[in-house]
Amino acid sequence: MKLSKIIAIVIVSFLLLSLSGCVNGDKGSRLIKARCTSCHSTKRIYAHKRDKTEWLDIIKRMERHGAVLNSNERAFLVDYLSSKD
Ligand code: HEC
Repeated sequence: MKLSKIIAIVIVSFLLLSLSGCVNGDKGSRLIKARCTSCHSTKRIYAHKRDKTEWLDIIKRMERHGAVLNSNERAFLVDYLSSKD
């Protein structure tokens, strides 16, 4: 295979990877805006870094307060929030 072809493939994979990162990021912030900001701002949500167990506890507590999430959305948000800085 020609070097230029390899370089092109590497560039395209990087572009696709960063694009999928963006889509995920958008999905996370859209979901948070839709399901978490009726009672408080996102400032409260992003105030501290927490691990998965802590996020799962908080999200379950939010559901007791009245937040509405299905199990996919709950799992997605736990991953999304715990991977944020
Ligand atoms: C029905 C109202 C409501 C919704 C919807 C809601 N919250 Fe909350 N949230 C609260 C209340 C009330 C508090 C303060 C009391 C508490 O911490 O339990 C709070 C506090 C918090 C805190 C601070 C907790 C701490 O211990 O510092 C975080 C983080 C949080 N919410 C995240 C979320 C996320 C993520 C969502 C979306 C899945 C969400 N909230 C949706 C009512 C809500």
